[in-house]
Amino acid sequence: MNTTVTPAAAHPHGSEAVAIAAERRWAIVVGVIIALLVLMMVVTGLHWAAMPPSRVETVDVNTLHLKGEFVEDNLGTTLGPDGKVMVRLIAQQYSFVPQCIVVPAGMPVTFRATATDAIHGFVVGTTNANTMLIPGFVATFTTSFRRTGEHLMPCHEYCGTGHEAMWARVQVLPAPEFLARARGGERLDCVPR
Ligand code: CUA
Repeated sequence: MNTTVTPAAAHPHGSEAVAIAAERRWAIVVGVIIALLVLMMVVTGLHWAAMPPSRVETVDVNTLHLKGEFVEDNLGTTLGPDGKVMVRLIAQQYSFVPQCIVVPAGMPVTFRATATDAIHGFVVGTTNANTMLIPGFVATFTTSFRRTGEHLMPCHEYCGTGHEAMWARVQVLPAPEFLARARGGERLDCVPR
């Protein structure tokens, strides 16, 4: 590598030595970064080969509608005795149950969801609430919604001919309004707005 530095023409060898030293330093820094990235790939590859990347929870698709957590009257939003907000939903060709989900703003909301027939998924508006739904597995995540308002929640995994018509709505209510309506521990439905 030859660098031409005009003002240092009086000391051509000095500037060349500085440039070579600088390039060597960069080569070492870049080499260390590459070595770290390769090491990360090897470690995570070996680690995940032995262990799934996240908690894996299975559910029996055949009895999903009949018993357990995902029976129809257990779907929707509930406020637990511990004050935790839980949303349970299922995805099927080509709808979500429930069709409209109520959540509070500024409080942690845990989603638990699964699919009955094909791979589906959802994203809530422009928030980071986003997951795939795979038959036989329970997807779960906790998020909180900053602003009140209504979001569209489309299916974002191609699941068949009705895919583009598959969506639900998410209503984010002010926390006091949500809590007032949630008293009694029953499921919450969307309010017409
Ligand atoms: Cu369900 Cu696409």
